[in-house]
Amino acid sequence: MESSASDGVLRKTRSHDRQTQRDEAQTGGTALSALPCRDGTGDMNGTDDKGNMMDGVDELVFFVNGKKVVEKNADPEMTLLTYLRRKLGLTGTKLGCAEGGCGACTVMLSRYQPRTQQLHHYAMNACLAPLCSLHLAAVTTVEGIGSLASKIHPVQERIAKAHGSQCGFCTPGIVMSMYALLRNNPAPKMADIEEAFQGNLCRCTGYRPILEGYKTFAKEGGCCGGRGREKGCCLTNGNMDDENLTNGNTADDENLTNGNMADETLTNGKGDDERTPEQRDKNAPLFNPADFMPFDPTQEVIFPPELISLIKGEKCRTLWFRGERALWIQPATLKDLVLLKSQYPDAKLVVGNTEIGIEVKFKNMLYPIILAPTFILELHKVQYTEEGIVMGASCSLTVLGRVLREAISRLPPHQTEILRALAEQLQWFAGLQIRNVAAIAGNIMTASPISDLNPIFMAAGCKLTLMDKDGSRVVQMDDKFFPGYRKTVVRPEEILLSVEIPFSKKGQYFSAYKQSPRREDDISIVTAALSVTFVTGTTVVEDLQLGYGGMAPTTVLAKKTASGLLGRQWGEELLQDACSSLAEEMTLHPSAPGGMVTYRRTLTLSLFYKFYLTVLQKLAKDGVHVEELRSDCLSATEIYQPQTPSGVQVFQAVPEGQDEGDVVGRPMMHLSALKQVTGEAVYCDDIPLYENELYLCLVTSTKAHARILSIDTSEAEKIPGVASIVFAKDVPGSNMTGPAVFDETVFAEETVTCVGHIIGAVVADTQTHAQRAAKAVKITYQDLQPVIVTIQDAIAAQSFYEPIRTLQNGDVEAGFQQADHILEGEIHIGGQEHFYLETHTTLAIPRGEDGEMELFVSTQATTKTQSLVSMALGVPANRVVVRVKRMGGGFGGKESRSVMLSTVVAVAANKLKRPVRCMLDRDEDMLITGGRHPFYGKYKVGFMNSGKVVALDVSYYSNTGNSRDLSLSIMERALFHMENSYSIPNIRGRGYMCQTNLPSNTAFRGFGGPQGMMVCESWMTDVAMSLGKSADEVRRVNLYAQGEKTPFNQLLEPLTLDRCWDECLSRSSYQQRRAAVEHYNRQNRWTKRGLAMVPTKFGISFTAVFLNQAGALVHIYTDGSVLLTHGGTEMGQGLHTKMIQIASRVLSIPCSKIHISETSTNTVPNTSPTAASASSDLNGAAVQICCEVLRKRLEPYKTKNPKGSWEDWVKAAYFDRVSLSANGFYKTPDLGYDFDTNSGRAFHYFSYGVACSEVEIDCLTGSHKNLNTTIVMDVGNSLNPAIDIGQVEGAFMQGLGLFTLEELRYSPQGHLLTRGPGMYKIPAFGDIPSHLTVSLLRDAPNAKAIYASKAVGEPPLFLAASIFYAIKDAISAARAESGLSGPFRLDSPATPERIRNACQDRFTELCPSAQPGTFTPWAVQV
Ligand SMILES: Cc1cc2nc3c(=O)[nH]c(=O)nc-3n(C[C@H](O)[C@H](O)[C@H](O)COP(=O)(O)OP(=O)(O)OC[C@H]3O[C@@H](n4cnc5c(N)ncnc54)[C@H](O)[C@@H]3O)c2cc1C
Ligand code: FES
Ligand code: FES
Repeated sequence: MESSASDGVLRKTRSHDRQTQRDEAQTGGTALSALPCRDGTGDMNGTDDKGNMMDGVDELVFFVNGKKVVEKNADPEMTLLTYLRRKLGLTGTKLGCAEGGCGACTVMLSRYQPRTQQLHHYAMNACLAPLCSLHLAAVTTVEGIGSLASKIHPVQERIAKAHGSQCGFCTPGIVMSMYALLRNNPAPKMADIEEAFQGNLCRCTGYRPILEGYKTFAKEGGCCGGRGREKGCCLTNGNMDDENLTNGNTADDENLTNGNMADETLTNGKGDDERTPEQRDKNAPLFNPADFMPFDPTQEVIFPPELISLIKGEKCRTLWFRGERALWIQPATLKDLVLLKSQYPDAKLVVGNTEIGIEVKFKNMLYPIILAPTFILELHKVQYTEEGIVMGASCSLTVLGRVLREAISRLPPHQTEILRALAEQLQWFAGLQIRNVAAIAGNIMTASPISDLNPIFMAAGCKLTLMDKDGSRVVQMDDKFFPGYRKTVVRPEEILLSVEIPFSKKGQYFSAYKQSPRREDDISIVTAALSVTFVTGTTVVEDLQLGYGGMAPTTVLAKKTASGLLGRQWGEELLQDACSSLAEEMTLHPSAPGGMVTYRRTLTLSLFYKFYLTVLQKLAKDGVHVEELRSDCLSATEIYQPQTPSGVQVFQAVPEGQDEGDVVGRPMMHLSALKQVTGEAVYCDDIPLYENELYLCLVTSTKAHARILSIDTSEAEKIPGVASIVFAKDVPGSNMTGPAVFDETVFAEETVTCVGHIIGAVVADTQTHAQRAAKAVKITYQDLQPVIVTIQDAIAAQSFYEPIRTLQNGDVEAGFQQADHILEGEIHIGGQEHFYLETHTTLAIPRGEDGEMELFVSTQATTKTQSLVSMALGVPANRVVVRVKRMGGGFGGKESRSVMLSTVVAVAANKLKRPVRCMLDRDEDMLITGGRHPFYGKYKVGFMNSGKVVALDVSYYSNTGNSRDLSLSIMERALFHMENSYSIPNIRGRGYMCQTNLPSNTAFRGFGGPQGMMVCESWMTDVAMSLGKSADEVRRVNLYAQGEKTPFNQLLEPLTLDRCWDECLSRSSYQQRRAAVEHYNRQNRWTKRGLAMVPTKFGISFTAVFLNQAGALVHIYTDGSVLLTHGGTEMGQGLHTKMIQIASRVLSIPCSKIHISETSTNTVPNTSPTAASASSDLNGAAVQICCEVLRKRLEPYKTKNPKGSWEDWVKAAYFDRVSLSANGFYKTPDLGYDFDTNSGRAFHYFSYGVACSEVEIDCLTGSHKNLNTTIVMDVGNSLNPAIDIGQVEGAFMQGLGLFTLEELRYSPQGHLLTRGPGMYKIPAFGDIPSHLTVSLLRDAPNAKAIYASKAVGEPPLFLAASIFYAIKDAISAARAESGLSGPFRLDSPATPERIRNACQDRFTELCPSAQPGTFTPWAVQV
């Protein structure tokens, strides 16, 4: 039964849907199920009878959002994403990385299997899906599920209204992951929702609001949207202010004995301190689920009936698709496949394309013949045998997981040891989008040394069936299977048919471990699969298999260790010998690729130890007599279980009596959110192609410091479609450029000073051709010396930019003399990649006359772009218009470095007189555009017995890179924040900007402030440790008091730091938590908890005084609609929303009458970049001034006609010839600090906050869990609490990445090794603290900014240092077990490697580090 919905899309009925679900449940449904071969024969259409290729090609037929697409020239090298965006104009699906690592490109694929009449829906990455793989499939994109013009879908609505979309670039992907989940499971559990998002990243929101919005779909705790549940609906039964709804909590049921606070006051804000006196605040939720449309799963778009007919009518035949360079052959039968493989032994089999796709895109590989075995039934077969389960080689990992779970549930436990280990490992294998398509064979055949599955297959002794045209053979996956790096014993003409995974035997115990920098969707550092079989009923080892990944160029078995332990008792002596032997056998050269050599070696022992303990436990459980297991060691055996995070948000409701229509102070949704969730929001690269548009690809240096000897473009010019290759000679104006000082070039001329230095650019008809040609440009270099990569190199060479800044106050030497103690220390803080989801993009359009050029740019700095483009083109600024609608995130990364790309694109467009576009690929963006400066801090601190610090001498060194960019201001801000929130009477800070051969580093949220404060907290912790006091007590002793001044002589007035501190102390129940942490640590040897409270004080203003200005332009049209423009750009931070709120208040009209179209240089000129957290203050004041002018102009008409409407007054004014357009201008008063005299005001005011975090570390692996964070932030009177809390959470998560996760790795030669989400890990959904409370300090109006608000973008970022110092606290507890006390160095980020190495114990002793200087490391700390 089908009905036609109003939008013309057929929707299936409830009964149909239920039937489909039942079918899937009964058959265990496969994601990549085989299409039918109706006659079972197979017709090698496209080959002659000998199997030789024929010329014909097939039409590719598939459906997108219910519409049939027939592609006659399907190119095997084209991805679905490119096709959607470029050919179909469906730009809702975004490109974030092109390597399956961010999820921005997520779409839903649906296939129908006529044999079982099953429908399968699954999320997948369009960026990796080959277009040719889609024959007879249905693709659903974000545009296909709802739109503003028709009706939005509940998955779109809920993320928007829950404030889960800021810049919105990640949003369509997240929406589609959720949508695909609901199509398969309309009532998911929270765990299902979390699993669905393993492959999605968001850089803005901090994830909490996304989960909170989607929690309403979940069985547990979710809102039914008014449709009723067992206990009635929360919307109708009066439970609306239930904490679970308003605060999104789950109760923490752990108790004090295991170190967790059970008190709900702590975890969900139900305590008295929230109920009184702030009851009203609590009742004001950030969103109201009652506003949500009900979710009716029966109303989903149906699978196209025509497609079902096509599938049923499809003749079983081989399909051929031919492109410019590659041929795609999709054989219909196994026989055809093996015939083709014998004919084309070099051909690659592509199933998920998650390996081949990466090789083609990033490793420049070309595979002229691709065999796609997707629809061959035998490769998807699942068979149970006496010995195990035989999985067809093309079964996806999702199918494997399902089969395993099913087997585990029905087989006796002793048979499922291997299956359980495999299932557990699969949970952490990539994200769901990858697992849905990636095949088992793909993992085996890739033969990656860091494969997650191969160690398991090897330790388990899996058997592989290989097949060629003459027959099949079975090989065991043993230590001979991988003869070398990425090699297997499988012969080129063979294919892998199936894998037999054995059942475990009685007396066999099996565990698998994966250690990676991030738990979710990450490549492993070391994997282990360990199996032991005992002589029945004893602890005597009969068989031992120790499989390791990440310890050699191939997956290996530690055979020597294993054979040495045969016949031994499973006990302490065996453990010791095993560890000594493993330490000898599992060695790595100190220069081994991947680095982390000491850590990796230690892991082999630590993981064995975990296995040892686990086996002891299992033996005991099975009734075998074993050595007693110490209770304090038990936590080492726990398998990580993700916990659904919960959050509390506390904010002050608007004053009673505030007009309902006055939206200032209310948690209004981001005004673009609904467009973002439907994919309708237009980002720079979504602008439709111009007719004669060209694409540009950069040619960049592969040397860090070299002279360019020659450039050969002859091969590049041969690539079809190449229009021109642009170099310095093509710059008509100045080739010198730079955002602050002109010390850079548009194109390098004679020398290059970093890898990634822009030398030229290829312009071609398509992106593919431009990129291919750029790779074909050959440049020869002469290496130059020195090559300075690290800060330490720069210090040794005294390679510093001028000036070296000093900020001093008091008498430092006298302070040291007065001190009871003096200590010295150091810390290195790694850099950070912005990882805005939208990479740098520019579209330049020559206007054809007077040298005019129009640019659409993803930039925070329209004016800077305009001035540098005009300089390069040699035209006045009035010929260049720069326009920005929105950015997919900026975070400072688009404040100055965007100009480098825009200038190049403009030069190319000018040369060719045609529109030119470029959106950097993620790897290019990461390579070229710089990031947060790495800092090294060296300090000497004098302090009293009480902990009071009386003298500080600190030197900061920043790795500035090959140009100055904004580095001086960044260093100055570091110095302005060197005392963080503490009163230090005698203080001196020096700042050195190290000139190195790295790409220029630049602004990043916090702008040097976080690095300045991080060094401060390092010495603060050292002081506490050396006194044996709690760091938080010492922090409190030093905290600024009312009436005190900063080292730059600025009075802190008013100061709310103490209020934030005290509120955080009580909200976090710090004292009880501290006691619980200590209790936990006494009871656990191998897991430790740590706690830290960290304050922040952040100066608000650009330190370059002239930037503290802003303009606005408002037009009122005669229909009453208002067009608002101001100098700020929208990058997700909600600036436009806040500006509209302000205009709405001043003009007393609803927000719906006000529109912001874009930011452009021809509307508001000479703007400052949208940065320094000051944009709401500056632009808000300008908007206010401007609207006041217009309000006053309209006042007489209102007075004359008080009962009239806004439209009446506007019309009356117009007919009275009153101008309905005005501009506003604002500059921050009384600013101007002078370093020479240490006088003048550096900042307009300060934002304050305090955070308390609790973590748990695994001392054996270095992993940590973020258990609990409480943040109290002073944002003045919030203009929009939803946006401000979003900023607090987003900044906090970015800080969490900075201080615990994100690690840029450079080779000693200055090559960036981490160039995508695969290698560089930003926080994912699973990194949110299990409990996160954000409280905006109440009753703290700020007289200095618009409507008493405060800046919020940057200040909260540093609060994530509380996680870092909580980790340090936990490490101290671990070190204490080994008798170590006192200060120790911990560099940032606190990665698992650093945590593990700092927790010294008997395992680390067995793996000493190689002497520095005796080897060349794979990566260096820059
Ligand atoms: C974002 C991302 C995350 C990842 N995470 C992980 C991870 O956590 N752990 C991990 O181990 N790996 C990971 N990988 C690697 C990869 O996904 C897996 O190795 C996957 O199993 C490959 O399967 P595929 O079907 O996509 O392979 P494809 O790319 O389609 O093919 C890979 C290789 O297998 C060969 N091949 C495929 N089938 C056969 C066959 N039947 N007979 C002979 N040869 C065959 C192909 O010729 C090709 O050489 C990740 C990859 C990505 C992109
Ligand atoms: S663009 Fe496809 S996963 Fe990032
Ligand atoms: S909203 Fe998720 S990346 Fe910006």
